Amino acid sequence: MKVKISAPGKLMLLGEHAVVYGWPCIVTTVDKRLYLEAELLKEKKLIIKAPSAGVRNYKKDLDKLCKNGGPEGGRFVERAVLNFQQKYSLSFGVKIETKNGFSIKYGFGSSAAVTVCTIKALAELSGKKLSNREIFDLSYKTILDVSGVGSGFDAAAAIYGGTLYFVTGGEKIEKISNGEIPLLVGYTGIKADTPTLVKMVAEKKKKDEELITRLFSEISFLVDKAKRAIAEKNWQRLGELMNYNQGYLEALGVNTQKLSNLIYSARNAGCYGAKLSGAGGGDCMIAIVDEKNRENAEKAIKKFAGEIIKVKTGTEGVRVEK
Ligand code: PMV
Repeated sequence: MKVKISAPGKLMLLGEHAVVYGWPCIVTTVDKRLYLEAELLKEKKLIIKAPSAGVRNYKKDLDKLCKNGGPEGGRFVERAVLNFQQKYSLSFGVKIETKNGFSIKYGFGSSAAVTVCTIKALAELSGKKLSNREIFDLSYKTILDVSGVGSGFDAAAAIYGGTLYFVTGGEKIEKISNGEIPLLVGYTGIKADTPTLVKMVAEKKKKDEELITRLFSEISFLVDKAKRAIAEKNWQRLGELMNYNQGYLEALGVNTQKLSNLIYSARNAGCYGAKLSGAGGGDCMIAIVDEKNRENAEKAIKKFAGEIIKVKTGTEGVRVEK
């Protein structure tokens, strides 16, 4: 028996970093998906093939999962299988093969997407009907087990799809919209190191607890206003709110010169607003753009060596492929 599952990548719209500390954020999905094929094996083994993550043909006995190391690119899959086995038990082995519909360098959340797909695939193969909430809880546990930090917003996006209002650990997961947001995405060419940036903000918070908490509180005020702007499709307002949010991210110290170059060129080319998306330090910037300004804004971003990534937003969450 074989199943094919896919889950979308994501982009953070507002609220990054604050969401690690109990505040809300807004995340949307993109039409670039991760695909995973899982095949039932009689042998009690896990086999992983994930060429885009550098894993050719990794084999492990099911009773030795996450013991004695393993390849870096297979950590989320292996941990997800172990967590599934411990929670629901597994009476079969499984071969898992992944295909990335987007480059892992963009920061679109391939680790969360592969974790979600693995858990969904195991549920399908073992005939268990898991709710989105159950898939989220096990995915979030897996992400924390492997990377130690994170709010879980990326797993929620991969599962539920659309544009979500999300509070840390899935305390709130609300769909704001299934529609498209007129987004422009520019990649800096620099891979962001999310755990390092999250730790850097944690250090700042330790040193300046009240100040950073006030910043987070201001960010959450913007997130709540943005939630309304998205529901009302008020793109100009959403852009303005993103500009404010960028100011706070600059204050947190996660912005870079390259991100700023792309952000200012988008704003100067007539975008409603622009900011970094995600941890900062690199990865992508996003802008809200009127269709009549899109071409100009893309040109302006390319002038600063930004790579334009064409995306449609608000796409469907995890699904079984026919
Ligand atoms: O770097 P990304 O795109 O995975 O986003 C990280 C967002 C943070 O808020 C900094 C961390 C988190 O898990 O919410």
